[in-house]
Order: sequence, then C-alpha cells, then structure tokens
Amino acid sequence: MGAGKTTIARSLGLPNAETDANVPIDLFGDGEAAFRAREVEVVRAILERTEPVVVDLGGGAVTTPEVRALLEEHATVVWLDVDVDVAWQRVEGTGRPLAQSYDDFKRLYEERRPVYAEVADVVARDASDVVLAAAGIHVERGALQRLGELVPGHGAVALVSDARVAGIHGMDAQLALGSRVAETHELPPGEEAKTLATLDRLWQDLRLDRSGTIVALGGGCTTDAAGFGAAAYLRGITWVPVPTSLVAQVDAAIGGKTAIDLPQGKNLVGAFHWPAGTVIDPALLETLPEPQRLEGMAEVVKTGLLADEPFWELPDDELVRRCAACKAEICLRDPLERGERAILNLGHTFAHALEAAAGYEGVTHGRAVALGLLAALRLSGRDTRVVEEVLRPRPARVDRERAWQAMQRDKKVRDGELRLVLLGANGPEHGVALPEADVRRELDRLIA
Ligand SMILES: NC(=O)c1ccc[n+]([C@@H]2O[C@H](COP(=O)([O-])OP(=O)(O)OC[C@H]3O[C@@H](n4cnc5c(N)ncnc54)[C@H](O)[C@@H]3O)[C@@H](O)[C@H]2O)c1
Ligand SMILES: [Zn+2]
Repeated sequence: MGAGKTTIARSLGLPNAETDANVPIDLFGDGEAAFRAREVEVVRAILERTEPVVVDLGGGAVTTPEVRALLEEHATVVWLDVDVDVAWQRVEGTGRPLAQSYDDFKRLYEERRPVYAEVADVVARDASDVVLAAAGIHVERGALQRLGELVPGHGAVALVSDARVAGIHGMDAQLALGSRVAETHELPPGEEAKTLATLDRLWQDLRLDRSGTIVALGGGCTTDAAGFGAAAYLRGITWVPVPTSLVAQVDAAIGGKTAIDLPQGKNLVGAFHWPAGTVIDPALLETLPEPQRLEGMAEVVKTGLLADEPFWELPDDELVRRCAACKAEICLRDPLERGERAILNLGHTFAHALEAAAGYEGVTHGRAVALGLLAALRLSGRDTRVVEEVLRPRPARVDRERAWQAMQRDKKVRDGELRLVLLGANGPEHGVALPEADVRRELDRLIA
C-alpha cells in the first residue's frame, strides 16, 4: 500500500485491472478471511484471461497461498519496492483500514517484505522498470556475465554474432552460457548481415530443433537479421537479443520487429517476432567507437523528444534504461504497428529521403535522423537547440530533387498523402498532413 501500484498501472496505458477496487473494502467488517477468499476469486478471474493485462494486486493478496499459486502459473510478478516512510506519507490520513497507525503500518510492511521477495520475478523502482519487466527486457551493467541465467529456458542455444563483436565480447558470452551453447555463427558486420545470402547460409547451418534458442549478440544489423532468422526457421523459434550498440540497446532490439534488406530498399522483408527475453548490458557500450555512439544518440534524442524528457543528459546506464523502457511501452501498446507506434518515426520521413538520395552511402542513418529531427521540430514550431547541441548535424550533400522524389515515394506508400509525425501541444501526433510547400521548404533546408 502506497507503493504507487495503481498510479503506475494506469500510466502504462495498457489494459489493466485492479483487484482492490473489485473487492468491496467493507468486507473487512466480516473479517479478513472472507475478504481474502473473495480476493482469490477476483484474481483468478483476471489471471485466467488469455489476453495480456496489467494487474494491480492488493498489497496483502500474496499472503494467500492460492493467489501465490495463480501468480506462479500465470504472471510475471513485479515488486514495487519503496521505502516504508515514503509509502506511509502517501497513505497517511487516507482513511484506509490498514493505514491507521504508523507502527501497525510499519509492522505489516516488515512482515510482508519476505513474502514479496519470494513471489517477485522482478524488483522495480519506477514505471520504467515495470515496463521493462512487462516486455521481458533486462537492463543491468554486467548482464553479459550472467547470460546463462538471463536467457530463458534450458534448451540448446545457437549464438549468432557479428564477426567484429564476436572478437570483443563473444568469449564472455560463450563462457556465461556455458554448455548451453550448441553452435556459434558469425554474420558479417553491418548491413551485409541483413541480406538473403547471409540468412540462407545461417538457415542452412543451423542445427537447433524447435526447443532451441537463437541468442543474437551484436548491433542492430545482427539483431534484425538473427531475429528474422529465428522468426522463419522451423516456422519460428525463440530468440533473445543481446544488443551491443547504442542503436540496438535503445531501439533496434526493442519491440519485436525484425528484417532484412532487398536491393529495392531497406527492411523490406521481415516479421514481427517478439523475443523470449532481451538482455541489455550498458557496459558493452564502452568498446563502441565514437561514430557509432553518435548514431545511437540520434535515436536517444528522438526518444527524449517523444517522452519530453532530456534522456540525452543521463549517464549511460540510466539513458539506456529509460530509452529502452520508453520504446518498449509504445510497442507494448501497439505491438503490430497499427497506430501509435508510428510516432517512433519522428524525423524519419525526412531521414529516409536523405538516405535514399545519398544512395545509402555518405549519409548515415543517425546523421539523417538528426537532420530529420530538425525539420520535424521546425514544422512543430519547436526550438531546435537540443538537436543542434547534442547531435551537431551538418547539412547533407545530396541532390534536392532526388530527395524530394524519395519523399514522394514514401507518400505513395501511405494512400497518396504525405504524413508526418510532429510534436503537438499534447504530445506526439502521427499522420499529420501539411502543405507540400512547407514540407519541401524544410527538406531543402537540410541539404547543403
Ligand atoms: N528492428 C528495429 O526496430 C530497428 C530499429 C532501429 C534500427 N534498426 C536497424 O539497426 C541497424 C543499425 O544498427 P547499428 O547501428 O547497431 O549497426 P550495426 O549492427 O552495423 O553495428 C554498428 C557497428 O558497430 C559494431 N559494434 C556493435 N557493438 C559494438 C561494441 N559493443 N563494441 C564495438 N563495436 C561494436 C558493429 O560490429 C558494427 O560494425 C539498421 O539496419 C537498422 O535498420 C532496426
Ligand atoms: Zn531510426
């Protein structure tokens, strides 16, 4: 009580159910046993539903063995661990039956702690931790060394990594996974991993059966390619990304989208294939070259603008945790990209046009996104200083007409009108149509 369960459960914007609210509180008059018995039935009815739901469990529910058994079978249990004094401050004077005296409250708190510790799958401090738990994402410095425990299941593992990352972190990953590693595969670094030829080789080399797991260690190219490999191999086997670049930790490895490229364009063949778990170790970023870091910072600034929080100012571990949670939250609400998830394309319509105009050479995605964010902010009537200071984008040297044509192609894909993501007064908006002249003017400003 007073941990903030209800506030967080509601703020996630995911379907949620409150067990407290369904059990009339005056049942306490009939004694706690009657209350708990009714609570078990409410919890059972909710947990036995098939669709995912966030359940805001009353603080005493886990004292009942039946509830504990139901949780064990049906739920990921997140313990919101707050200090007793913080919790007391929140409930003092609210008239709740178990919040009458500080001493009783504290005694109850001490009594229940061991029970919470026992049932919890994850201990959370804030809403981001809860989202990460719900999405199966584990963010922890040093997580690579604990990969053996963190990769779900006990079956055989095929470790798929980018040849360059394999040379730096592959041995640690293998040591941590121990005898579970049945096979290792190396993909070429960079976009070459995301080709049909690479996937063809991977599929032919794989020996795993349906109970196996692909662990993808590398940047976004590796996680995209290995994820798609897992999605199609034997009609889909489980996979666990272990992202090693900033792009992959805050973006590519989150949300279940996997893809490879075709000569006609990037990411044209792929699948939604949500991983069984995601293991993020921010310490791996220490070996990441500076240009690659800047690539990731473009997505960090994008995510911070969407969340309206300066994530780019945070130290690495926190930056990764908050950004990963922000993306995961949006993806959990819209797993198949039918709506809201489109906001993750902030700045990207411009970025894709610049990348295409450069023939995918000379203008990196991160630099193009930085420029695209400038345009999106200007069209939103917002200040662009953050992008300029953090990302220092230089105008792209590409052909203006080619860039505009690329944007027109984007438009054809979405029923004839150019749709943009902008930042409105009440947060991000997608599907915004603007006069072509305004869009073209802003595109031109990004080009040297
Ligand atoms: N699926 C999605 O939702 C999604 C989202 C964003 C981006 N992406 C994809 O991600 C890809 C880009 O990812 P990326 O920028 O990580 O590229 P990448 O995978 O090519 O990695 C960049 C480079 O950094 C190296 N590297 C990675 N981690 C390292 C480490 N810890 N130490 C040293 N070197 C390291 C790699 O070997 C590579 O040379 C693109 O193909 C993009 O389409 C996918
Ligand atoms: Zn991007």
